[in-house]
Order: sequence, then structure tokens, then C-alpha cells
Amino acid sequence: MKPGITCVVDNAVKSSSHLWGEHGLAFWIATDSGPVLLDTGQSGTVLLHNLDELHLDAAELKALVLSHGHYDHTGGLPALVGRLTPGLPLYANSDLLQERFSQSTGQRRSIGLSVNADWLSEHFTVHLDDAPQQILPGVWTTGVITERPYPAGYVPRQEIRAGEGYASDPYRDDLSLVVESNSGLVVLCGCCHAGLLNTIEHVQRVFQQSIVAVAGGTHLISADAATLQFVAQKLSGWGGLQRLYLNHCSGQEAYVTLRQALGGAIVRPCPAGAVLEWATAA
Ligand SMILES: [Fe+2]
Ligand SMILES: [Fe+2]
Repeated sequence: MKPGITCVVDNAVKSSSHLWGEHGLAFWIATDSGPVLLDTGQSGTVLLHNLDELHLDAAELKALVLSHGHYDHTGGLPALVGRLTPGLPLYANSDLLQERFSQSTGQRRSIGLSVNADWLSEHFTVHLDDAPQQILPGVWTTGVITERPYPAGYVPRQEIRAGEGYASDPYRDDLSLVVESNSGLVVLCGCCHAGLLNTIEHVQRVFQQSIVAVAGGTHLISADAATLQFVAQKLSGWGGLQRLYLNHCSGQEAYVTLRQALGGAIVRPCPAGAVLEWATAA
């Protein structure tokens, strides 16, 4: 199988394609050891349609990774499961199953997983761990991003259940995927609630290799202009970055600011249907 990474679900779709879009994310990572799926989008309907349009067969998957528990990354699980090998390995951080809520509309509503631990165990071989986990040769989770000195993608009024009450979500479930390529590490983000800079520093510290590309949702959508300039300045200082594919919760302001700072050769859009072409050189 030819190595490569394809965006299967995003808020936007590649123009002239017949793909569908929704607020959600999924990446298909093809490796020499077989394909891995990161996240499942929100509805399942979009994921299955786009897999078919892209001629990607979920029965071939060797593993599923969930970047975090939010509905727009895990909502496709029930629709997808019928296409998967029973007992497929599923990887996530240990905090995946924490109940999650939002009060953004004034009323507390669930925004976490729509399935429970028993359902997951029925269909998957579940691997939950806070440490980095190897999925296949050359494919790892980041584990929990523990050090967060830089801006993070925390959303006001997003909560977890805490005892009898609720507490601000610390997003300990948030992970990214690390894929080794011939030219360096590729980091695939789900929502990157832990923060883009924090995630990059974590990967550099843990994996001790340079990062050549980052792709996915970076949750800079609510960052103010000063924060975006700070992120752009820090990224400019990391000379090895060759590609920054922004989608999902990155936001238009972040796209414009980072593209102006880093250049159009580096900062690219990443709608559903986008194939990260540099990764196919391996
Ligand atoms: Fe998201
Ligand atoms: Fe999220």
C-alpha cells in the first residue's frame, strides 16, 4: 500500500468533488502496515459517503484512533462499526470516556461520546492510555499533552462532570497522531485543544525528531490577533516546518495570519479530499 494521508471528513470539501462536509474531522493514514483512521466525523453519514467517494475500504483498517471524546470526532462510530473488523484495535487517551458538556447555548448539553465503555468493548479492542501508544510501525499517539505553557484551545463553558457538579474541561483526552515519514515527523491534530505550540513542543520532546508537517484542526478559531501573531512568530522560528495544513476548527483568521507569516508554500487548506502530497514521497 502506498503511504499517504487523506482528509476524509472536514467542515469544507475539495472543490469539484462529490464529497460531503460537516463540522467534524477524520483522516485516513495509509502505511506499509495497513491503514489507520483518525476520528470519525460527526454524523457517520458523511464519513461513509466520503469513504465510498474516495474508494477507501474501512474493512482494511488496522486500527482506529480517537483524538478526543467530542461528538464531532466520535459521532461516526455507530455508523462505521458495521464496516470494521470486529475487535479492531481502538486507541485513545485514558480520559476519553469522561462525560463532556457545553453551556454555550445557556443550557448544559452533552458534547461527548454517544456510546459508552461497554459498547466500545463490544466492538473494539480498546487501548486507553495517557502515555504515547504505538499504533503501527511509525504511527504513534502523543499521549496526554502534559506541558501547556503556550496558548491552548480551551472553549469557555465546556465542562466535565466532577463529583456532584461540573468543572472546566482540562481536555486531558486531547491527543494528536505522530506519523514518521522519510523526511521527518508528521503531526495530525483532531481539535488540538491542548494547543498547537504545546503539541508541537510535546512531540519534539517525546520523539526527539524534527516535525516537517502539521495537519488538522488547531483550535485557533477563537484566538485573538495578538495570540495568532505569537503563534505565527513561534512557528516561523521552527525552521523545519515544511507544511501546515489547516482545517476544521482552525478558523479563517488563523489561516490568513499564518499564511501571511509563513507563506503560501507552507500554509495550505485541508478540506475533505485533500491528499497530503509530501507524505506520499516515502
Ligand atoms: Fe472538533
Ligand atoms: Fe473538540
